Amino acid sequence: MELQAQEKHVLENARRKIPPGLPPSNIYRIQRSFRMVASQGEKMASRFYDLLLERSPELQKFFHPGNLSQQHAKFFNGLHSLMLHLEHPQALRAALVQLGEQHQGYGIEIQHYPPVVDTLLQVLTEFSGEGMDGETYDAWANFLHLVRAIMLENLGPDVSAEDENGMSHSTMIAEKPKRILLIDDDHQLLDLYQSYLEIQGYLCSQVSDVAWAFTHLLMSHYDVVLTDFQMPLMNGIQLRKNLDYMGKGLWPPFILVTGSLNQEIRKQALESGFVAVLKKPHDLTELGSIIRIAVKKSWAFPGNEGYLNRAGDGKVG
Ligand code: HEM
Repeated sequence: MELQAQEKHVLENARRKIPPGLPPSNIYRIQRSFRMVASQGEKMASRFYDLLLERSPELQKFFHPGNLSQQHAKFFNGLHSLMLHLEHPQALRAALVQLGEQHQGYGIEIQHYPPVVDTLLQVLTEFSGEGMDGETYDAWANFLHLVRAIMLENLGPDVSAEDENGMSHSTMIAEKPKRILLIDDDHQLLDLYQSYLEIQGYLCSQVSDVAWAFTHLLMSHYDVVLTDFQMPLMNGIQLRKNLDYMGKGLWPPFILVTGSLNQEIRKQALESGFVAVLKKPHDLTELGSIIRIAVKKSWAFPGNEGYLNRAGDGKVG
């Protein structure tokens, strides 16, 4: 009981220092650009569906050819209500968890998200015109990665899968995909890591800056975090130290990846609680092995229900 009170006290203090929600400048950019497209809502939704199905015709099966304009309005109104929650992490989380469960009910899985996210980014760019500068685009991209991460939180194991004899796997013990947060300012490397690890059955979220790393770790939950060392604002070890300052033992196993590994960095990383250090360049099988080891250690971390849920007094944000 006393420990719980102590933990709560640490979290209360930490909250005052690092906001648990989206990085404030990103909220402003996202909302401003959405206001620019709001008057063209139905046109934008219609362009979105056309482009999505042109690029990924296999997604057609999810959309009933009924009242298209009603479908467009629903989608756009849904996005609009997410915009209203951007400053309220608890409410945003709740809305996204619900949206995710609704999508799971449609049979939508991890691999269906990238074409939807890419198409949405392209259409927002087309309709926002000059309103979509580089920083606004990054804000949307990071936001949509968070949206996907939370929508997929309650994704169950694939119980509909059948083996080569046509037997259902529903009786086998299947696990939810392990969730990995990838932090690096090198977008190409993030894409490479993500596609490799998702082929291996993990669910990855990628963030290109430390502010969004805090957002993901505070608003969602992960089994393992893989972070670059050298990044703007703070390095990977400082990121980990800041999180520990908010509450020790609350975070999943961290792996540090760096091209400038030396004895000192290795020592600092291990002393700061990293479970492994990986030197760049490395091959992807090395990455796979180190992630497997870290995932094995993740069972020891308290619940996987995420920081916002653990903080759990409903007043965050
Ligand atoms: C970035 C992630 C996504 C967001 C933000 C999003 C958002 C939404 C919203 C707001 C709605 C309307 C919900 C309602 O009012 O009932 C919706 C419906 C729907 N979404 Fe998504 N979605 C996402 C990903 C996906 C993916 C990956 C698919 C896969 C094809 C998908 C397929 C659908 C379908 C089939 C509907 C129902 C349309 C209908 O009611 O006829 N969505 N989505």
